[in-house]
Amino acid sequence: MENNTQKNILVITILVTIFSIYNLSIYTSNKKGKVIQLSENAIQGEVLWQNNNCWSCHQLYGLGGYLGPDLTNIYSTQNKGPLYIKSFLNSGIKAMPKFNFSEQEKEALVSFLQQVDSTGFYPNTNAIIKPNGWVDIKYKNEK
Ligand code: HEC
Repeated sequence: MENNTQKNILVITILVTIFSIYNLSIYTSNKKGKVIQLSENAIQGEVLWQNNNCWSCHQLYGLGGYLGPDLTNIYSTQNKGPLYIKSFLNSGIKAMPKFNFSEQEKEALVSFLQQVDSTGFYPNTNAIIKPNGWVDIKYKNEK
C-alpha cells in the first residue's frame, strides 16, 4: 500500500513535469510568423469593417458570417485586388448592401484587407501534417 502510493506520486510528478515542459515550449515558441502591426490607415479600415458589419457576411481566415465569400486573400487573388475590392463597396450587388464610403474610407478598407492578406493563406492548402502530429503551416510573413 505504502509502496503503491509512492509509485503513484512518482508517475503523477513525471506526467505533470512533461506537461509543463510541453506547454512551456508551445507558448514560448515564436519562430513562425511575425506579429504584424496594422498601419494607421488599416486600423481605420478595421474600424469600418467592424462598424459596417462586413464580418456578419464575410469571413477572415474562415471566421465570420457565410452570406458572402471569405476575403482573407482577396487582395492578392489574381484578377481581384484593390480596384476590384473598391468596386464592390458602393455598388450594392446581390445580397451585399450598397455602402456610401468616401474614397479615403475605401482606401482604408483596402489597406486593412491588404495587411490581413499579407499574413497568410486561407484556406491553407500547403499545410503539412508531420508524423509526430505537428502541422507545418505556410505563413506569408515568416521570420
Ligand atoms: C449582408 C451581407 C453583406 C455585408 C454586410 C457585406 N457584404 Fe460584401 N458581399 C456580400 C455578398 C453576398 C457578396 C458576393 C456578391 C457577388 O458575388 O455578386 C459580397 C462580395 C464582396 C466582395 C467581392 C468578393 C469576391 O471575392 O468577389 C468584397 C470585396 C466585399 N463583399 C467586401 C465587403 C466589405 C468591405 C463589407 C463591409 C463594408 C461588406 N462586403 C459587407 C455580402 C455582404
